[in-house]
Amino acid sequence: MPEFRVDVAHDIAACAATVALQEETWSGDVVVPPQLMLAVVHNGGFVALGYALEDPRPAGFVFGFLGIYDFHFRHHSHMLAVREQYRGSGLAKQLKEAQRDHCLDQGIEVVGWTMDPLEARNARFNFGTLGAFTRTYHRDFYGAMPDRLNQGLPSDRIYVEWPIGHDRTYKRLRGENTAAALEDAEREGVGYLLRAEGDHPGAVAQVGASHLLLEIPQAFQDLKARDAKLALAWRIAARAAFERAFAEGYAAVEFLRSANGRCAYLLVPQPRREPPIDTDEQ
Ligand SMILES: CC(C)(COP(=O)(O)OP(=O)(O)OC[C@H]1O[C@@H](n2cnc3c(N)ncnc32)[C@H](O)[C@@H]1OP(=O)(O)O)[C@@H](O)C(=O)NCCC(=O)NCCS
Repeated sequence: MPEFRVDVAHDIAACAATVALQEETWSGDVVVPPQLMLAVVHNGGFVALGYALEDPRPAGFVFGFLGIYDFHFRHHSHMLAVREQYRGSGLAKQLKEAQRDHCLDQGIEVVGWTMDPLEARNARFNFGTLGAFTRTYHRDFYGAMPDRLNQGLPSDRIYVEWPIGHDRTYKRLRGENTAAALEDAEREGVGYLLRAEGDHPGAVAQVGASHLLLEIPQAFQDLKARDAKLALAWRIAARAAFERAFAEGYAAVEFLRSANGRCAYLLVPQPRREPPIDTDEQ
């Protein structure tokens, strides 16, 4: 496993060093200009780059900015990428830990970001490795996107929340209290809100149980390249399942895998959130 150094960016050269990696990951159409990144860094945001020893090109980077959500300051993480050859190395976690440290120093308790709910690897990383959760679904969040990961489908996103000060998060990052296997959940009788039937999504079931599984394809980008119509069917089915569950107060809190690579979100009902206080009300 290569060793990495994580450098926090403070100048334009460091921000500019992310551009080639942004282009490589998403293509040039959605690149964040380094001048904007630097302005964000100078205003409470965060950019860090990971370098493998003896490789002058960045192996990964993370970029986020300070924001307000639900009346609270929060850090919004806009981009995270690890160069293909360094995936599976632990660098992504190192970058997120650096971002977490920056936010904790600022007194920020939650880092948020959006992700495509059908990207199994990202889900495994966000929910399994980091201990994040989601309770919010956005249809076609960015509209039509031209880049190689997103083109051809509505850009639906789940909004991921990462409570960085929680004990559960610390444990996850230390590799403790890891998620159960999907087979264990099935053995315990957890039912499916959405389940694959062969390659295809099945019908979306009713909610109501204390735990529910929502299956997604193992390799969505491969599926999309192979069969665009089927990829769209998964987009629509997962959208219906998430929206139904979130409307009933569920959150997705884990992403479980089976020995043969099948994978599913685990959904549980959340305590109801109080509506914000209406200050105009007399
Ligand atoms: C997202 C990204 C930064 C994560 O980095 P990474 O090095 O791939 O992440 P890790 O290997 O640490 O974690 C990925 C997890 O997904 C698992 N995984 C890999 N392929 C998978 C698949 N097809 N299905 C399910 N899980 C998968 C890995 O085994 C690992 O889980 P584990 O630690 O429980 O074994 C990187 O993949 C990337 O740059 N992707 C492209 C850019 C992108 O999508 N960014 C958005 C991030 S929200």
